[in-house]
Amino acid sequence: MKLGTLVLENNLLLAPLQEVTTAPYRQFCRKFGKIGLVSVPMLYTKRIQNNPRSILSNLYKIEKERPISVQLIGSDPIALRESIDFLESYQFDVLDINAGCPSKRAIKAKEGGYLLNDLKKLSSLIKVATKYSSHLVSLKVRTGFKNSDNIDNLAKIVNKSSIDFITIHGRTVKDRFDDTALNLKAVKKLKDLLKIPVVGNGSINSPQSAKRFLDFTKVDAIMIGRGTMGNPEIFHQIHKYLKEGVELVFNNNLIKMKKHIDLYEQCINNYIEENIEFPYPIERYKFMELKRNSIWLTKNIQTSTNIRIKISKAKTLDELRGIFEQIFDN
Ligand SMILES: Cc1cc2nc3c(=O)[nH]c(=O)nc-3n(C[C@H](O)[C@H](O)[C@H](O)COP(=O)(O)O)c2cc1C
Repeated sequence: MKLGTLVLENNLLLAPLQEVTTAPYRQFCRKFGKIGLVSVPMLYTKRIQNNPRSILSNLYKIEKERPISVQLIGSDPIALRESIDFLESYQFDVLDINAGCPSKRAIKAKEGGYLLNDLKKLSSLIKVATKYSSHLVSLKVRTGFKNSDNIDNLAKIVNKSSIDFITIHGRTVKDRFDDTALNLKAVKKLKDLLKIPVVGNGSINSPQSAKRFLDFTKVDAIMIGRGTMGNPEIFHQIHKYLKEGVELVFNNNLIKMKKHIDLYEQCINNYIEENIEFPYPIERYKFMELKRNSIWLTKNIQTSTNIRIKISKAKTLDELRGIFEQIFDN
């Protein structure tokens, strides 16, 4: 399939999730099934402008992950332009502009989801991005700020722009992550109004919900975020269901969990192997990555609460390894 001129292996995308979809996480997910496009979660344009060194770790080795998108968040056109210039020396495929983040910080800084309240500003940022980026440009939005009444106007500015595709998360900024607020009608409306490809996103956490989303909205591709946490098989499950109607269930158990943790550790090691330039203290980085992910990898295990409590107590990599021994040797 194609998003703009970018040819992808399939129409399943991994969402940008800050502090979740790190490079080892992206590599890990790709071990279980094909993923059309992965994304580096949001980088603040002001940070790039003021201290570009502070974000280098997020871009370390991204050229090995292509096709990959890099997302920027900000409201200042000059900081956006300087960030784009800074990114030009990196090899990636899509520059994505965040116009959906609901965090207090983003709203206060009039960036992310706030931009859906200020389409004039959003339009000016899109103009900067499409003028100065040599990469494809995409936009990630929600259905609106408080409600989806502004979708027609959003569609107008997008249709007038030269962005290559758009991703819409089917909730308003005010809805934050409320699963009951998913509004597929609004997603479909935007899809019907736009000339460019649309990626749909929101609460896709099973093959069935993926099919429902696609069938109802007719979007060109879907993006999955929280549904991947603890279930790296989800892309394969969705692919099998959409292509062959085969319903695979994610059965987890301690043996599988251990295999997943070992594989995750391999992905971390692959990522930092040329560690001379690796910009984090390695032991600490490994610990944080392994601890966070091993907690999610308890998903669907009967005794998961006890396991999670044990893991969450670890304060060092050695302690974490000791806890794994206890859990898996019993
Ligand atoms: C922990 C977390 C971090 C996120 N970070 C980002 C981000 O950096 N950029 C972005 O556009 N969206 C971000 N999102 C939103 C997701 O990309 C996605 O739009 C949202 O979670 C809905 O999809 P889902 O229901 O499949 O998770 C984040 C969401 C979560 C839960």
